[in-house]
Amino acid sequence: MITFDQTKGTFHLSNGQISYVMQIEDGGNLAHIYYGKQLADYSGGYRYPRVDRSFSPNPPDSTDRLFSLDTLMMEFPGNGFGDFREAAYDIRHNDGSHVTHFVYQEHQIMQGKPSIAGLPQTHGEAEAIETLCLSLVDETAKVELKLFYSIFADTAAIVRSSQLINHHEAQVSIEQFASQSLDFPNRPLDLIHLHGAWARERQITREPIQIGTKRLDSKRGASSHQQNPFSIVADPQTTENQGECFGFSLLYSGSHETIIQRDPYQQTRVVMGINSYHFNWQLNHGEVFQAPEVVIAYSDQGLNQLSHVYHNFYDQHLIRGTYKNQERPILINNWEATYFDFNEDKLEQLVSEAKDLGIELFVLDDGWFGKREDDRTSLGDWVENEGKLASGLAGFANKVKDKGMQFGLWLEPEMMSGDSDLYRAHPEWRLEVPNRQPSLSRSQYVLDFSRQDVRDHIYRQLQDLFDRVPIDYIKWDMNRNMSDVYSLLLAPAQQGEVAHRYMLGLYDFLETLTTTYPHILFEGCSGGGGRFDAGFLYYMPQIWTSDNTDAIARLKIQYGTSLVYPPSTMGSHVSAVPNHQTHRNTDLSIRGHVAMSGLLGYELDLTQLSTEEKAVITEQISFYKKHRRLLQFGTFVRLLSPFDGNDTAWMYISKDQSEALVFYFRVLAEASAPFVTLKLQGLAAEKQYESDYGVIGGDELMQMGIYIDPHLAGDYVSQMIHFKVIE
Ligand code: GLA
Repeated sequence: MITFDQTKGTFHLSNGQISYVMQIEDGGNLAHIYYGKQLADYSGGYRYPRVDRSFSPNPPDSTDRLFSLDTLMMEFPGNGFGDFREAAYDIRHNDGSHVTHFVYQEHQIMQGKPSIAGLPQTHGEAEAIETLCLSLVDETAKVELKLFYSIFADTAAIVRSSQLINHHEAQVSIEQFASQSLDFPNRPLDLIHLHGAWARERQITREPIQIGTKRLDSKRGASSHQQNPFSIVADPQTTENQGECFGFSLLYSGSHETIIQRDPYQQTRVVMGINSYHFNWQLNHGEVFQAPEVVIAYSDQGLNQLSHVYHNFYDQHLIRGTYKNQERPILINNWEATYFDFNEDKLEQLVSEAKDLGIELFVLDDGWFGKREDDRTSLGDWVENEGKLASGLAGFANKVKDKGMQFGLWLEPEMMSGDSDLYRAHPEWRLEVPNRQPSLSRSQYVLDFSRQDVRDHIYRQLQDLFDRVPIDYIKWDMNRNMSDVYSLLLAPAQQGEVAHRYMLGLYDFLETLTTTYPHILFEGCSGGGGRFDAGFLYYMPQIWTSDNTDAIARLKIQYGTSLVYPPSTMGSHVSAVPNHQTHRNTDLSIRGHVAMSGLLGYELDLTQLSTEEKAVITEQISFYKKHRRLLQFGTFVRLLSPFDGNDTAWMYISKDQSEALVFYFRVLAEASAPFVTLKLQGLAAEKQYESDYGVIGGDELMQMGIYIDPHLAGDYVSQMIHFKVIE
């Protein structure tokens, strides 16, 4: 899949779907040539034109005034020696200079993919992967840059990461180090990205890329509700179903940045990696700095196809462990049912109702530990709240298990309340700047997870808990972002390392925890979807999509999330009305349809349900169980966007095309409304499908479509249609 043409100095990575081409240019400068649809072979005919661009310097070893790194399409651009555009790295040397000029030295083509120590990573069978490792050096500074490119036989994506190695006796300071940079030649392009806020995550914005620089980032120590570490660059004509697009998905859960720049010659550069804000890293002689991975997917058939690449890739080559490809249980979570106000009687009633409805897993949320009766206390004290549950935590968990249900628990291990035994014993374990009072958020501090002693203490508490209580599921929460980022154990010159060392510490913790307790299903959470990223999915196969459980708000949140993350990762619950976040009233039916579009759960007081409501829920649950594989692992296709108007639709197709489920949602009613038709996708054109609409050919369903029920009445309505092939 990877070839090197010695005479032309070109590298060509291809797998029948995509081609990625680079070239060693004059002076050993590594130029980017092409990324896109498969090329049979690369002739070498696309060499960068030679023109004297005034005020664009020529590399030091070149007398050719027609050659400048300021205009060349670069593979991993730097600055300080003549490229004035955005850089992928910035290294401060011992002498105070910032000039580093990497030139090609050697390369290696390997079968498989070398593993990256301490960071999340994609994986697969070595026979189906090839990796190119390019080594570039700056002889003066004695630093080496390694660029890794992996190509998987079955995937239209390139996985990239980068490494810096210091061979100089003196220390260097890394001020910025991206995971990847990708240059596009002059062509109009749109940028699509996922931004938001708490309870309004992953909203889609699309805008033309204009001359100048745009920065999409999180400085919060978490991938954040505000800006997901995922962007798309697309041809302006690209729609859901046609056109070229390129996705950039970073496997990192901390502060990140994506810099999109259009230069004076209309070339576009996309740089992505760890956020350089307040970042620096002291790299000593012989040390290596590894940047996180980025998955750069490609589609020439629109955004749906791009999402399929990510969904399949992440389901197969990112998620690990017991729950990879495994159907996930339907859960009841007591948070919106009781908040902190629960006792064993109340919970037992919930459990018993849940059991009768067919729910499989009971999750005890916040409030079971320390002296926690509200959100002001006890984080850090992971021992049970004595007396809150009459039979004790283990006793209660055993009761749940005796009923034939699984038992799950909420945790927020990276935090410490000001009012906690942990804080009283170790106030110095929080992130804080000496002699400065750190900021509180939700009355809590962030523990310094860059410290081994802090992690060991928390780990021991969790171990005791896990050994004592029969736990099948953990919801791992993080309810504030990092401020006052400073670690008392590190020297002043190293404080720029803390945010990343925190992530490395957290990843190390999660690696041990999730592999030591492989039977536990872990669900990530950060005030809902504040840390919904491909890095976290390496450790936890599912994530709570949003604290917003309103079915209508969820249409946009889940639609946006689906651009990159598969349905098998999206926690999605039916909750009570009026909805606790938006105060909206919606029917149980649409709430069910939206929630079963992800990993179905319930989060409401089941004891308050009417007989009719219980009947509806029983039906939803048995339907979901029957179609769970299709809904969690089927091919997901977006049909109508909630960002375009009143109608939303999506569908799931089984991998063998024998079945499909179509969901349609309408927000507001309209008098004399036009009929809505939906053209389905992904079916077998030559097969016949049976549904409420009768027996219809796959070709008809895809070319003509179906009419949505014109009798749907009122606001917030939905329709679900099941199609099954008849042999
Ligand atoms: C966060 C989570 C919620 C709930 C609360 C508990 O906000 O996203 O689902 O667990 O914490 O405090």
